[in-house]
Amino acid sequence: MSFSLESIGIKAGGKYETIYTTMNKAGEMDAAPIGLKCVDDYAVLARIFEGSKTLENIRETGIFVVNISNDPSVFARSLYGNLEENEFVKDDDIVYMKNADAYFIALVKSIEDKEIGKDHVNDGAKFSIVNAESIKIIINKPGTKALNRGIFAFLESLVDYSRIDIIDDDKKDEYIKKFKENERLIDVVAEDDVKEAMKDLKERLIEKGVEL
Ligand SMILES: Cc1cc2nc3c(=O)[nH]c(=O)nc-3n(C[C@H](O)[C@H](O)[C@H](O)COP(=O)(O)O)c2cc1C
Repeated sequence: MSFSLESIGIKAGGKYETIYTTMNKAGEMDAAPIGLKCVDDYAVLARIFEGSKTLENIRETGIFVVNISNDPSVFARSLYGNLEENEFVKDDDIVYMKNADAYFIALVKSIEDKEIGKDHVNDGAKFSIVNAESIKIIINKPGTKALNRGIFAFLESLVDYSRIDIIDDDKKDEYIKKFKENERLIDVVAEDDVKEAMKDLKERLIEKGVEL
């Protein structure tokens, strides 16, 4: 194969925010925002909660498309409901977003059904890990990079750091809570350079006497 996911900014270990497009056997199309974890150059995995149409369609067909977009309206509308029919393109056994900056086709290798033990949001929920292999990438907009929430969480913490000497104790407590949440998120989703930068920022905050 002549591509790797790095060509659209997807690196091993990182988790990205993308739009999955799927179809059921009857050809009904669905779009939804779903995270994508990159395992290596070609292997990806998704953790999808039971009850979603995306998971149902993936089980039915064994194939899905991961669309890269940074359009907030696409994320919002595909979460609140579905995209409009004319925003999809059907091509044989796949469906993708007409306005995707890039997209790739993923072939399902295995699906593991699981149940959450302790979680920061939903204890006891049922979900599946979908292991898949990317087989073809189409780049419509050169330079497209998949969204990773890690850099945004880091920037939030960095802005807070720049204000740390001018805030009162109540505000400092609030900043500490925010820092810890950003640290948790970065640990789960970020690429290595962001994890490194966050570690360094934590040390600097500790040097300033902030209790983390
Ligand atoms: C940015 C973003 C990322 C999301 N990632 C996931 C995910 O990784 N797994 C999941 O089960 N739901 C995720 N969701 C929630 C699903 O999008 C939501 O459950 C949706 O209603 C599923 O739609 P569907 O029934 O069309 O599949 C995410 C939502 C947002 C906004």
